[in-house]
Amino acid sequence: MAMAMNVSSACFCVSGNRRSVNRVRAVASEDFAASKIKEDKVRLGGSDLEVTRLGIGAWSWGDTSYWNNFEWDDGKMKAAKAAFDSSVDCGITFFDTAEVYGSGLLFGAINSETLLGRFIDDRKLKDPEVEVAVATKYAALPWRLGRQSVLAALKESLDRLGLSSVELYQLHWPGIWGNEGYIDGLGDAVEQGLVKAVGVSNYSESRLRSAYEKLKKRGIPLASNQVNYSLIYRTPEENGVKAACDELGVTLIAYSPIAQGVLTGKYTPENPPTGPRGQIYTPEYLTKLQPLLNRIKEVGQTYSRTPTQVVLNWLVAQENVVPIPGAKNAEQAEEFAGALGWRLTGDEIDELRSLALEVKPVIGFPVEKL
Ligand SMILES: NC(=O)c1ccc[n+]([C@@H]2O[C@H](COP(=O)([O-])OP(=O)(O)OC[C@H]3O[C@@H](n4cnc5c(N)ncnc54)[C@H](OP(=O)(O)O)[C@@H]3O)[C@@H](O)[C@H]2O)c1
Repeated sequence: MAMAMNVSSACFCVSGNRRSVNRVRAVASEDFAASKIKEDKVRLGGSDLEVTRLGIGAWSWGDTSYWNNFEWDDGKMKAAKAAFDSSVDCGITFFDTAEVYGSGLLFGAINSETLLGRFIDDRKLKDPEVEVAVATKYAALPWRLGRQSVLAALKESLDRLGLSSVELYQLHWPGIWGNEGYIDGLGDAVEQGLVKAVGVSNYSESRLRSAYEKLKKRGIPLASNQVNYSLIYRTPEENGVKAACDELGVTLIAYSPIAQGVLTGKYTPENPPTGPRGQIYTPEYLTKLQPLLNRIKEVGQTYSRTPTQVVLNWLVAQENVVPIPGAKNAEQAEEFAGALGWRLTGDEIDELRSLALEVKPVIGFPVEKL
């Protein structure tokens, strides 16, 4: 009975592991569309934009500077496309990219926006009615100044995406200077109909408040602040950002919500991640993480959910939070959908936070302190 109820509000392609997927199929053989999570949308801040409660991050798509062992090939491209299609199949239709994701901005090679645009195009050929919400970002590079630089960058992003507008345009990080002009540029983008909603990213509480006030004077709501937030990176709870988002009605979009794969439990002291992540999540760090990971796994077992689904559910339970985990393939995307449609209890949420307090946070992206 409990399983049937979970399925009715969650996605058909979601469960914690393959065995439970089969059990779910046996219990709920209703129409696929009815079990999609499509109805489960949230409004971003005070904007009119509604997105799924969880989005998919596309940083790794085409990237050769941090992800993918510094190599991009056809196999990885097909896997990324499958991640996109599976997300849409599961009812997750909100995708986060940026002009600097991938290897394309400087060298004209493939980048994440180009790939996302192609995946949307291909999908529309099969499914013309499909509705996808695209979020992309402006890189506040020191030589970019003035409101027109925001519009110019946005138009280039739209070209790469092959779209005439996007749902959400965000300032990727605060600039060293020029921030007032960037906020003016966001407002211009809304007024010119190039975006439905605007947001910021890596903004501190005080920057968030001033961006909110400046846009408000033009009657434009600041929809979101995208920041690093996970069970083991709770800085937004400590630096006033989460409280300010809640107070102002700005949605907190949580990036790196599964701590770049570490909270899934697949990396262990014996099997640490390779590449740049290996410098952050060392065997020593992973050893200290094990008690928390063990408890996450146990809690998940009571719901037939995976650790990944538990830690994403924990974030959604904080309210006013939309996590955007990165998916490299169909399996990862499918698993994310199973984070929705059920809920940890208050006691479990508190217990996991207390256990996480024992783990020292890693160093975040320094721009959040600019
Ligand atoms: N605004 C900003 O400054 C900023 C900064 C960072 C990220 N972001 C956004 O946030 C998104 C997500 O953050 P993120 O990519 O840093 O980290 P994340 O979502 O916490 O982790 C993503 C990584 O975890 C692994 N993974 C994903 N699903 C898994 C699963 N079901 N089971 C096991 N492993 C899984 C994959 O890497 P492996 O398979 O290689 O382990 C994947 O690339 C990005 O794509 C981007 O859109 C924004």
